Amino acid sequence: MASKLLRAVVLGPPGSGKGTVCERIARSFGLQHLSSGQFLRESLGGGGEAGAVAQQYLQRGLLVPDHVITRVMLAELEKRREQHWLLDGFPRTLGQARALDGICQLDLVISLNIPFETLKDRLSARWVHPASGRVYNMDFNPPQSQGVDDLTGEPLVQREDDRPEAVAARLRKYKDAAKPVIELYKSRGILHSFSGTETNKIWPYVYSLLSSRIPPLLSEEEH
Ligand code: AP5
Ligand code: MG
Repeated sequence: MASKLLRAVVLGPPGSGKGTVCERIARSFGLQHLSSGQFLRESLGGGGEAGAVAQQYLQRGLLVPDHVITRVMLAELEKRREQHWLLDGFPRTLGQARALDGICQLDLVISLNIPFETLKDRLSARWVHPASGRVYNMDFNPPQSQGVDDLTGEPLVQREDDRPEAVAARLRKYKDAAKPVIELYKSRGILHSFSGTETNKIWPYVYSLLSSRIPPLLSEEEH
């Protein structure tokens, strides 16, 4: 008999390490990692409506309207009805959480709590490989050769919204929007919070939590 499909969410402010921890979870447990920010960035060049609307918000570090991101994410989830998945960056508002409730029942929500002071430094040191979404940090997780992706050798770029003005706006907006979402999942008993500035330190706890729900493909050290 097929095991129940896992529906998980990772919440956390910009720069808290959602993308980093989701990549590890996805590799270790064979889940689909679905990043709302990544979908939006991919839609920018496509000439569609979502891309055109999103561009104005992303550049300024603002949240895109609920109906825009909800349409994008529900369409992506619809394509993955038969897969285990892990959402990164969605839902970010109560309206989005309610829309998600309409299509599934979440099993697990991971919330990353990182001091706000740490976040600004991290974001300015972040470089990404646009085609794959792989994330590097010049201090914590640098590429093997400076400025290029480890797997493809293609150039790394800095995200527009990692500029200092946009970062400050993103951090301000996050708190107000996220609070009711965190409260909602806490009240359902599915919220698991992890505090600390090091992904490597919280990883054993995250790994053991996920292992209690789904069999791992890789050992804790292999990620
Ligand atoms: P999105 O792409 O989701 O960005 P974000 O939430 O702002 O988060 P980030 O991707 O910046 O950070 P992260 O937590 O993934 O951290 P990462 O692992 O990269 O969204 C972008 C924009 O899209 C939003 O601003 C909004 O406009 C829009 N949007 C997206 N979803 C939306 C929604 N649902 N509703 C409305 N609008 C939406 O790590 C950060 C850096 O830190 C990296 O350099 C990493 O290497 C490094 N790092 C990670 N862990 C550590 C560590 N332990 N120690 C040191 N460095 C570390
Ligand atoms: Mg991210």
